[in-house]
Amino acid sequence: MQISLKAPTSPSRQKSAALVVLLTSDDLKKPCGDDALNELINRIHKRGDFEGKASQTFLLPLCDTLSAERLLLVGLGEAKLLDEKVFDKATTAMFKAIRQYKLGDAAILLNQSTLSEESQIRRLACGAETSNYQYTASLSKKPDPKLKKLVLLASANSANRKAMAQGQSIGRGINVARELGNLPGNYCTPTFLAKEAKALGRKSDKLKVSVLDEKKMRELGMGSFLSVTAGTDEPAKMIVMEYHGGKKSDKPRVLVGKGITFDSGGISIKPGAKMDEMKFDMCGAASVMGTMTAVTELELPINVVGIIAAAENLPSGRATKPGDVVTSMSGQTIEVLNTDAEGRLVLCDALTYAERFKPATVIDIATLTGACVVALGKHATGLYSNSDDFARQLIDAGERSGDRAWQMPLWDEYQNQLDSNFADIANIGGPEAGSVTAACFLARFTKNMTWAHLDIAGTAWLSAPKGATGRPVGLLMQYLLDCAN
Ligand code: BES
Ligand code: MN
Ligand code: ZN
Repeated sequence: MQISLKAPTSPSRQKSAALVVLLTSDDLKKPCGDDALNELINRIHKRGDFEGKASQTFLLPLCDTLSAERLLLVGLGEAKLLDEKVFDKATTAMFKAIRQYKLGDAAILLNQSTLSEESQIRRLACGAETSNYQYTASLSKKPDPKLKKLVLLASANSANRKAMAQGQSIGRGINVARELGNLPGNYCTPTFLAKEAKALGRKSDKLKVSVLDEKKMRELGMGSFLSVTAGTDEPAKMIVMEYHGGKKSDKPRVLVGKGITFDSGGISIKPGAKMDEMKFDMCGAASVMGTMTAVTELELPINVVGIIAAAENLPSGRATKPGDVVTSMSGQTIEVLNTDAEGRLVLCDALTYAERFKPATVIDIATLTGACVVALGKHATGLYSNSDDFARQLIDAGERSGDRAWQMPLWDEYQNQLDSNFADIANIGGPEAGSVTAACFLARFTKNMTWAHLDIAGTAWLSAPKGATGRPVGLLMQYLLDCAN
């Protein structure tokens, strides 16, 4: 989409399919600088058609006194209650109206309030991209018309231009994650993910992409990872994306994504209901790919490594069985008591592999446990970390990006739930605190690093209407932008 900035000298003379005005209820009591616009807004308000309530939208289809074909008013509620959350909700309603009326272009007059221009621009540019996303890859139906052009009526100074580029790239990164998540399991295989990563690598000199095949993983001793892929004919891949935007000596931030392109549970097979949703079990990987896309587009001045552990989890005569013991790359042996706890088995080897990059920080992102969905539902990502400072940074990034996470305990007291008589560690911790014990398992492999784990089982996709959300690309990008500043 084409998004541009233009000084708001006379909004009523702005040509477009719709002039959009973002207004708090308090704004309605005072005139804005543009007489023709003032006159219209006043009349609509006096008539009682628009009060500026939060997320209220009102479309005036014919307005001869404006150069735009339509006027769209969007309410932001009371000025004193206006914050980023209210703004995001209202602009979501605005983009819905833009879609509903099939507007090909629009010009938006920002709100003159406490919210900075930059923040409004970043959020609008991101929302414009994400609101335009539509899944069509496996549909014969043609996509609906899109919003093609957006003019943000604000000065084109360098801070605003930067905010616009950031918002747009973050939005596109979110869409990359959604698209990969939504693709069916027979389209989006580990091989497909590897091809997508390679294609991304070809777009920038700063991004180097390499793919480890099963032979290479065997040489590295990734017995835990390989035990997950034993039952499928689909070859597993470990995808490594190295982005160099900083100094050579800058330690990288490493992102590790769970990329189970379909999780049947393996021999510990899942029940049939909603099993189709286990195509979303690669949403962690998708968020890494989306984030790497945005980082590359924005040419952030830091180093970032994205690692994707991609495999399919199926039962067969060659599949790993409950009770089997496997040896991880770290040397620790693991008793696989349940083949459906496969995410941690691929992640532990990917996390051990991550150590070679001497990371500043490591974050793994995984649709890891149903228990996390029970604990937090679909609103908050579960966050675990071996550093409370790091946890706070990520929670703060989540708050500011509207992509929230909530810290969960990683206490030693939970660790003995993973005791095994036949290996150093079991891959499940029993019925209690399932999301915590999964994190405890990963913690055994990340002792030498500043590490956080994001359990996105509840936040990565929605069941009605079914679709990937692109989370937590927003949180990750906010964190990386913070690192870059
Ligand atoms: N991918 C699932 C977790 C999941 C389940 C995410 C439902 C979202 C919705 C994961 O691989 C899994 O199967 N976990 C098991 C772990 C258990 C066997 C200890 C689970 O959560 O039931
Ligand atoms: Mn599973
Ligand atoms: Zn899984």
